[in-house]
Amino acid sequence: MTTPIRVSVTGAAGAICYSLLFRIAAGELFGPDQPVILQLIEIPPAMKALEGTVMEINDCAFGTLAGIEIADNPEDGFKGTNVAILVGGRPRGPGMVRADLIKMNGPIFESQGKALNKSAADDVRVVVVANPCNTNALITRSNAPDIPKERFTAMTRLDQNRTAYQLANKAGVTVNDVSKITIFGNHSNTMYPDIYNATIHGKPVTEVITDHDWLKGDFISTIQKRGKAIIEARGKSSAASAGNAALEHVRDWFSVTPKDSWVNMAVNSDGSYGVQKDLIYSFPVRCDGKGNYEIVQGLEINDFAQEKMNITQEQLLEEKGHVADLID
Ligand code: NAD
Ligand code: LMR
Repeated sequence: MTTPIRVSVTGAAGAICYSLLFRIAAGELFGPDQPVILQLIEIPPAMKALEGTVMEINDCAFGTLAGIEIADNPEDGFKGTNVAILVGGRPRGPGMVRADLIKMNGPIFESQGKALNKSAADDVRVVVVANPCNTNALITRSNAPDIPKERFTAMTRLDQNRTAYQLANKAGVTVNDVSKITIFGNHSNTMYPDIYNATIHGKPVTEVITDHDWLKGDFISTIQKRGKAIIEARGKSSAASAGNAALEHVRDWFSVTPKDSWVNMAVNSDGSYGVQKDLIYSFPVRCDGKGNYEIVQGLEINDFAQEKMNITQEQLLEEKGHVADLID
């Protein structure tokens, strides 16, 4: 029998996980022939609700699910884990920016980084979803010195998917016709969705969409403020679309990225595109199917893009300054 892959997920009784866990259990991460064991982590007051979610997962009788383990602390929950998806943390409400969550959520990632360092499998891969996700990933990584830096990522896949939809909708095509979208920087209101290297039907986006004022203005702010717009409309932050993005982030990390495209993840900066080393900054990447990735090199960065990339880097440096006590 194929050895199951152990997938730990924090915040397992929350809104995002109510869609994400079922899709992992259904085999959508690693395919129908790869069993998975779910290791679900919550805080003690949410364990009862988690038991309800577990009952529902079991009642789906998923053939790829080889077991569920639950834990009310990260050390037990990360034991032997191959993949850790860190969703647990407060979401923002109306009137807040994601960075307002640093003081509440930051300390969670100090203890989870330490727990991963101690308990996870040698090959563990980590993605942080909880906001502010880039800086939370930086805190997690800083507290797990035995795990290679490249294994820590934060989720900007939702921004990539939002960009695909906005471009397809404007051009009157489907999302399948849009490729090579790039998301640079922080998952925040400064993120920069770069379309100068993207294509629609293989043609530059700027040739297909001739409303360049929209491309430089409303399009970018729609992506930057999409999370806020959803909170204003629903009264709660995005959940199913975030769960979908988390699934796609991990699935694509373990898949071979086609040569003529890429996906976006916030990863450890190696200095590519002049971004300060060791920041968790979103870049376009290509994955090799074995859990490794390379930052796509050689993209053209015009003055407009460079300015936007600098702004989002500045914000990440500022956030890093606010959590100095958690990363030293
Ligand atoms: P939610 O409040 O519905 O669920 C969060 C869950 O996390 C709760 O059940 C809570 O008990 C649990 N939790 C809190 N602290 C924990 C800890 N220390 N260990 C384990 N579990 C813990 O929130 P949600 O809607 O599921 O959102 C979760 C996070 O994801 C928020 O921070 C939100 O802002 C973020 N988010 C990120 C993106 C993105 O694109 N990166 C998108 C949407 C939401
Ligand atoms: C999103 O982009 O939808 C999430 O990060 C939630 C938020 O606070 O905006």
